[in-house]
Amino acid sequence: KKATIITAPFSGGQPKGGVELGPEYILNAGFEKQISSLGWDTEVAHPLDKTDYESVKSDEKDAYGVKNSKIVSECCKKIHHQVKASLGAGRLPLTIGGDHSIGSATVSAALEHNPDTCVLWIDAHADINTPATTDSGNLHGCPMSFVMGIDPESYPPEFEWIPQNLKHNKLVYIGLRDVDDGEKAILRKYNIAAYSMYHVDKYGIGKVVEMALDAVNPDRKFPVHLSYDVDAIDPSFVPATGTRVEGGLSLREGLFIAEEVAQSGLLSSMDIVETNPMLAETEEHILDTVSAACAIGRCAMGQTLL
Ligand code: ARG
Ligand code: MN
Ligand code: MN
Ligand code: MN
Repeated sequence: KKATIITAPFSGGQPKGGVELGPEYILNAGFEKQISSLGWDTEVAHPLDKTDYESVKSDEKDAYGVKNSKIVSECCKKIHHQVKASLGAGRLPLTIGGDHSIGSATVSAALEHNPDTCVLWIDAHADINTPATTDSGNLHGCPMSFVMGIDPESYPPEFEWIPQNLKHNKLVYIGLRDVDDGEKAILRKYNIAAYSMYHVDKYGIGKVVEMALDAVNPDRKFPVHLSYDVDAIDPSFVPATGTRVEGGLSLREGLFIAEEVAQSGLLSSMDIVETNPMLAETEEHILDTVSAACAIGRCAMGQTLL
């Protein structure tokens, strides 16, 4: 069992500063040790070292209606290559962000490594806007459309390199509760499997995770990429994140998802994103959010309660 913890200290996919500090806080909380204690041979990779994206970040939309295409693309390219290199070396890449724009890099890399890979996207948001549908212009709201190649004519040229290798029946969402109208239309048009908080309340989290895996991985034989946005969990447990939405998963429901994926034995790559220590109002907010992020990682990597 070998893993690479990949840091993605990047905030260019959304306007708020501070999310680039997520990896540092998570590592300082002892994350690598927590993972290696579970029996993993760990290493930490910093593919964005020697880059300064923060000072060139802008709040202007380009002609395509999105912001910071150049730095998001550059950052994603570096993360993409690192994820592929780790997978190629037989290691499980665990990317910690940073904002969720890096999802297009990690997911496309996982699919290049193994085209059978399915994606579990745990999030309050669907992150499947195209440059044509996004209101905000924030690229952390777009990664899934890029990897699926939805409306490619709307993409800035910077994103032409992203492999459009995710099929519509290979993605499933859990935790959704703030989906834009344009995104709802995309989910319907392509019949993408999605379990919102409504479904979690109606069926319970155990059944929802089972249904989600049935939708994309009925025989439980495909590798799983788990992309975990900490804002899936309710802001009362995870306050320090950029786009909080009330009515989220309880902390236990959130950890259960990771535990079930671990139990399946199919986890092959993972992201934990959107921890923003600068958005905490108190010291306790930072602690709660960073420890939830670490716990998500530990549960997915095999920590059990008994
Ligand atoms: N749908 C909104 C947008 O496109 C919010 C996206 C939030 N994404 C996230 N990774 N937290 O701007
Ligand atoms: Mn989100
Ligand atoms: Mn398509
Ligand atoms: Mn997200």
